[in-house]
Amino acid sequence: MCGIIGYKGKDNVIDVLISGLKKLEYRGYDSSGIALKGKDIQIIKSVGRISDLEEKVKKTELIDTDMGIAHTRWATHGEVNEENAHPHRVGKITLVHNGIIENAKEIKDNLISKGVGFNSNTDTEVIAALIDFYYENSLEEAIAKAIDDLKGSYALAIICDDSDKLYAVRCESPLILGISDKGTFVTSDIGAILNYTNKYSLLGENEIVVIDDNGYKIVKDGKEIHREVMTSNLTDEDNDLHGYPHYMLKEIMEEPVLVDHIINKYADNLDALPDLSKYDNIHIIGCGSAYYAGMIAKNLFEEDGIRVECDVASEYRYRNIIYDDKTLVILISQSGETADTIAAMRKATEEGIDTLAIVNVDGSTIARESTYKVLIEAGREVAVATTKAYILQVLILSLLSYKMNPDNKYLKDLKKLPQQLNVLLDRTGYFKKLADQIYVRDDVFFIGRKIDYAICLEGSLKLKEVSYIHSDAYQAGELKHGTISLVEDGTVVFGIVTDDFIRDKTISNLEEAISRGAKAIYVGTEETKYEDQIIVPKVHSKLQPILVVPVLQIIAYYVAFKRGCDIDKPKNLAKSVTVE
Ligand code: F6R
Repeated sequence: MCGIIGYKGKDNVIDVLISGLKKLEYRGYDSSGIALKGKDIQIIKSVGRISDLEEKVKKTELIDTDMGIAHTRWATHGEVNEENAHPHRVGKITLVHNGIIENAKEIKDNLISKGVGFNSNTDTEVIAALIDFYYENSLEEAIAKAIDDLKGSYALAIICDDSDKLYAVRCESPLILGISDKGTFVTSDIGAILNYTNKYSLLGENEIVVIDDNGYKIVKDGKEIHREVMTSNLTDEDNDLHGYPHYMLKEIMEEPVLVDHIINKYADNLDALPDLSKYDNIHIIGCGSAYYAGMIAKNLFEEDGIRVECDVASEYRYRNIIYDDKTLVILISQSGETADTIAAMRKATEEGIDTLAIVNVDGSTIARESTYKVLIEAGREVAVATTKAYILQVLILSLLSYKMNPDNKYLKDLKKLPQQLNVLLDRTGYFKKLADQIYVRDDVFFIGRKIDYAICLEGSLKLKEVSYIHSDAYQAGELKHGTISLVEDGTVVFGIVTDDFIRDKTISNLEEAISRGAKAIYVGTEETKYEDQIIVPKVHSKLQPILVVPVLQIIAYYVAFKRGCDIDKPKNLAKSVTVE
């Protein structure tokens, strides 16, 4: 994971690097650092948030510079401290790295045997040492030799004592080139530089970028490569809180408008979505919430009589999967850069299987490498916990299922969704009241059956990741097979009940928990006797999750708020998980 940015040009380098890091903070936020190149190289690092680094930079006398590199870290090798923070410097080489080097130990042992010393426990320092080891006259050649030895993933921005050029290279980790009249950037994400430019180029694997005063060149195997300059339609506006205290709340509140946009785009133009009718064996793959969106879709497609398997990417990539010529693999990913999901996609591609990407970030690896893609068009999602992207993933999957098996009720209900969502999200007073009851609890359970269970999975993940309250989702009938022993006086149990067919069964399971002291919160489509109940409008079963999950998202938000949590950046997490 981690975010990197490098810049050479006429803009204020510190401003470029610090503002870029703030926008990359979603990629990891346990420590950060910058290196500036003037007559010498100056490195400043700090544990904590980018604001801590910024304070430190303000108190430091800085060298004159037109070039620098910077990094925000999500620790993979070595604990969180300044020593392990990037940039790393060995000999004449200073660099920042996003990714994981799998053969770092082997390379390190080899370099130690040749007399090279190390200061940190990171795989990144090994890369710096390796480039320095190979460096004689040409840094470009040294980098080319070093990456030949590396196994794993990397995006690197590199500076050198002897050179006033900035170098960068990537393999499996994202890195793009940003281009403006005043200078050239490399960054993990275009969002980090949108206040300077929206012009960018994608970089292929192991293409080395060399940036100097005149611009840049891209080189692979000694030959220059020309890459198209593209224009991003994202704007810096997408980073604005628009008066909300947190991005999570802002992004939940954006859901009605975004859902409306997708409905307007596809409801009467289903031809714009891929035709999946030739497939009868669908594998749906994702991680975390994206996997849970897949679990919703599994229920939808199965109702249509299609064979569906849904798995987390980190398992799928290593399983013995049996494909046939009617298999389609659907990859769900907001970022399009999740390492395990990329590996799952490549596994299917290598077997000659068609893949469909449901992604938010266009130009991402998954968007580029899949057979078909549908963009969810959520705009930039800043909060680490996904909300709007999940809802749009579910909406797209629901539309795909409708396209395979159309009916009139669906279309009628679809068009009502944005307004219904608006009304539901307006009930903030009630959600806050519920949050007041939940925020003091140690354990929360979510129970439901079939598609309601898939909803529970996301509701439970949202609550635990932002509020740090332990919570679990159970198939309603499963609770009594062990876990019910954890239910005690006041334990909150959410009962999600939208499926008419199994309503009575789930309610019986809720009663079993209540008999053991549980405090029930019912979320369903029919009124009940329960004191705490959230009634959502009854809509077509393929659309129901789109009205229920936002309610659970917003309750999770208010619980985390009451507990004073760092809502947009929960501890230990990162927005884009680019390591295995
Ligand atoms: C949870 C969350 C994560 C992501 C997961 C996959 O709120 O955001 O579980 O859903 O890391 O990320 P993407 O969708 O970028 O592949």
